[in-house]
Amino acid sequence: MRAGLAVFAVTAGAALLPVSAQADGVVNVYSQRQPFLIQPLLDAFTEETGIQTEVLHLDEGLPERIAAEGENSPADVILTVDIGRLVAVVDAGVTQPVENDVIYEAIPSQYRDPEGHWFGVTTRGRVIYASKERVEQDTITYEELADPKWKGKVCMRSGQHQYNIALFASMIAHHGEEQAEEWMKGLKENLARKPGGNDRGQAQAIYAGECDLGLGNTYYVGLMMNNNEEPEQQEWADAIKVLFPNSEDRGTHVNISGMALAKNAPNKENALKLMEFLTSAEAQAIYAEENYEYPVLPGAAVSETVQSFGEIKPDTLPLADVAKYRKAASEMVDRVGLDDGPAS
Ligand SMILES: [Fe+2]
Repeated sequence: MRAGLAVFAVTAGAALLPVSAQADGVVNVYSQRQPFLIQPLLDAFTEETGIQTEVLHLDEGLPERIAAEGENSPADVILTVDIGRLVAVVDAGVTQPVENDVIYEAIPSQYRDPEGHWFGVTTRGRVIYASKERVEQDTITYEELADPKWKGKVCMRSGQHQYNIALFASMIAHHGEEQAEEWMKGLKENLARKPGGNDRGQAQAIYAGECDLGLGNTYYVGLMMNNNEEPEQQEWADAIKVLFPNSEDRGTHVNISGMALAKNAPNKENALKLMEFLTSAEAQAIYAEENYEYPVLPGAAVSETVQSFGEIKPDTLPLADVAKYRKAASEMVDRVGLDDGPAS
């Protein structure tokens, strides 16, 4: 069985990248991030270091792919989004720990693995989109989403989506499982409809008057505001205001886009150079600007669009501690029947 995998790995590796990509002066990036987001960064990296980059873009199956390639995997640096996906990559055994002062000093400890297997590169807040017209209050908490005063007013995508799972995991981390479950039951009763669609769809629903509050990530608001290809999205964005939950206490739940060093990285030195570069002020500003995210490097520039949402105060609970409760959160969503929508 192992021998079979190894043969496959050689074939897969050879088919994937030209021979030149295996030579010096190259770094191979396996990315779950869209090419338009990372290309400007990689171009800046090549300009600064002379190191060429080869990118394999994979939406699904990234850990499985690297595992199947085995020791001959050309993967050097892995780029992905969400703590859930980063943990999945580590759990698949396809990463190696990084010890590097530049990277450790740039990235606050709450956004990296204590064992050095994954690192946040940007953050995004999981915020409340609130109707400008129908919601008067300008502050809110996640806890309040279960308050009966919002009955029939809340919209969200599936509770099993990784963005919501991370938020629910943070609720468990802060309140314990029992209290978090009571909260989730209240949230379910406040839903306007069965959870569905994506984050932008919740803004659309608010625009359409189907609900008053929705859960969504910060960067989608920037993407909607500046969407010239589908200008109707600008109207959705215009219908909502961004409320940063729990700004007045523990802070807003944030998730990350992140990076990891592949276990058998053939170009390890170059990989570390790229990882260092991604934490530099220059790269942080480009990365944050491209997708309206927040840099992890303290003091790095935030885009004007993102600044217009107001100031975020991130929850300081380490994401590694949040990640521990992902499974419990997913089971809770099923137990509560969150994705079935409100009872009546
Ligand atoms: Fe997203």
